[in-house]
Amino acid sequence: MAEIRFDNRVAIVTGAGAGLGRTYALALAQRGAKVVVNDLGGTRDGSGKSNSAADNVVDEIKKSGGMAVANYDSVATIEGGENIAKTAVDNFGKIDIVINNAGILRDKSLVKMTEAEWDLVLAVHLKGAYCVTQPAFKIMKDNGYGRIINTASGAGLYGNFGQSNYCSAKMGLVGLMNNIAIEGAKYNIKINTIAPIAASRLTEDIMPPDLFKKLKPEFITPLVLYLVSEDNKDTKMIFNCAAGWFSRTEVVCAPGICIGDGKREITAEEIKNNWDKITSLDKAKSLGSVGESFAFLGPLIS
Ligand code: NAI
Repeated sequence: MAEIRFDNRVAIVTGAGAGLGRTYALALAQRGAKVVVNDLGGTRDGSGKSNSAADNVVDEIKKSGGMAVANYDSVATIEGGENIAKTAVDNFGKIDIVINNAGILRDKSLVKMTEAEWDLVLAVHLKGAYCVTQPAFKIMKDNGYGRIINTASGAGLYGNFGQSNYCSAKMGLVGLMNNIAIEGAKYNIKINTIAPIAASRLTEDIMPPDLFKKLKPEFITPLVLYLVSEDNKDTKMIFNCAAGWFSRTEVVCAPGICIGDGKREITAEEIKNNWDKITSLDKAKSLGSVGESFAFLGPLIS
């Protein structure tokens, strides 16, 4: 099987100074990509700042003969995002790949969550992906090529206690992907979302040590490599991944039931009486865009 290579490709990896992002940066560089290693170098809760996180990964890449440059901007402002894109263009001439990976945690149950904790987590994860992807997208569009990854989480897709800010941001990244996939389609820009589970400083105190040891971040890397490669033609998909498990997961739409006729009033009792059919996921499928959901209205709008 031909090796998947990234020669002549330029990649931005946000939050690449540690954890999952570091493994993506190392693997991309090892396969020929020129990599912008972005990392603010803060603590797990987003406070502080240090250049050493990004610098160490750049050194590691250079020592193995790869090409990389460090960037220390926060992804959470458009100014930072533009500077990350500029770092790629100034050093390597273009942008082919963006991996939106930078992340922090500020966990609290809903009633204890402060506005500051909400805003910061949304700013890094969700706004950060917008801030970095927008300037990169402009360049990808001009070049007619792009591969983007958003990093969601099972917490956002399925729910988790004590993470209302994080769950919202992570599900928001799915919405952002849905939009970018549609806007990028005619420019050969593909975007997919991963929901990883891996050992890192974000998970070290919430996983039993035995499990933690098995969930190496390196087990996530191959999926990301494939998704950002030229070989991948799929877009707008979401994948769970952990310890060698890879699975597609989706927001789906079931056919449900047309109760009314588009004219007469529908009663709450009719909803109750049809609850089994309304809640059934039988024959559910993923949709290409919101427009496709109109097909289910069929007789009601014809
Ligand atoms: P990590 O804490 O090891 O790495 C995240 C990196 O992002 C850090 O190096 C940090 O300095 C950097 N960063 C934080 N805020 C930044 C900002 N404003 N600008 C630039 N860089 C910033 O964590 P890990 O586990 O590698 O997480 C990577 C991504 O994967 C995150 O988005 C996280 O939410 C997501 N994720 C991780 C899971 C896991 O099991 N480890 C589970 C689900 C999602």
